[in-house]
Amino acid sequence: MTRTVYVNGDYLPEDAASVSVFDRGFLFADGVYEVTSVLDGKLVDFDGHAARLDRSLSELSMHAPVTRDELLEIHRELVRRNGLTDGLIYLQITRGAPADRDFAFPDPDEVAPTVVLFTQSKPGLAEAPQAKTGIRVISIDDLRWGRRDIKTVQLLYPSMGKMMAKAEGCDDAWMVEDGTVTEGTSNNAYIVSGGRIVTRPRSVDILHGITRAAVLRYAEEAQMEVEERPFTIAEAQAADEAFVTSASTFVMPVVEIDGTPVGTGAPGPVAARLREIYLEESRKAAI
Ligand code: PDD
Repeated sequence: MTRTVYVNGDYLPEDAASVSVFDRGFLFADGVYEVTSVLDGKLVDFDGHAARLDRSLSELSMHAPVTRDELLEIHRELVRRNGLTDGLIYLQITRGAPADRDFAFPDPDEVAPTVVLFTQSKPGLAEAPQAKTGIRVISIDDLRWGRRDIKTVQLLYPSMGKMMAKAEGCDDAWMVEDGTVTEGTSNNAYIVSGGRIVTRPRSVDILHGITRAAVLRYAEEAQMEVEERPFTIAEAQAADEAFVTSASTFVMPVVEIDGTPVGTGAPGPVAARLREIYLEESRKAAI
């Protein structure tokens, strides 16, 4: 089946959709994005993603080209038109396509942002087999820019990180800066140590994960202790459990770091419980 995608107000077959070669997303990675999961045809935490999108846009002095309600309608229309049950919706907004390549931003009154959305079907997304086995990560230096709290489309280094992990037969990489873990290439990182869930506090160093916010809220509601502080790779290797969170993986156990098994080397009870609660609550609250 040909996918229907959304480009600047139009719903088009994917092979009929196009963006200018002068688009600043293409030339300068001058754009932001969001990934929202869809379970049973409904959007998980849409409001969280819409709010973070607004923040990303405003941090880059970009105007929101669509309202929250319009955005919700576009998401829902794409779910309908593509018969999406389980999967993801990718949204990207760039600073648009001026007449020529120029480092300076174009006048926003003259150049409209480019808005693109498409669906990615992932049947059984919530039952990913890796949730049962866990994933294996390596550590790499965090060589990204200093505003990782803005969800920009400059994902070259995270892509390289995934490739470095693959080259070592692993699934992902945790990035390390000044001796502590910032986050995974496309997820937030956690350990469970001394009965506490430990994760780096929000700052410009990491993306403020929408899944992170929900998981920490559910953890506290379930009387689990949460400590927001940086941790090292050595501490993570010695922890009882480790896991990551993101809109595409929910809560995913990490069972090995740089070749050292974490805890028993199998997914632990805290990650399993958090995944269960997260999926249950997310399904209930999905719109
Ligand atoms: N990535 N940190 C980074 C660097 C990320 O790219 C992501 C999300 C997260 C988790 O954020 P959230 O819980 O809001 O998904 C943390 C998405 C899924 C992606 O790039 O595909």
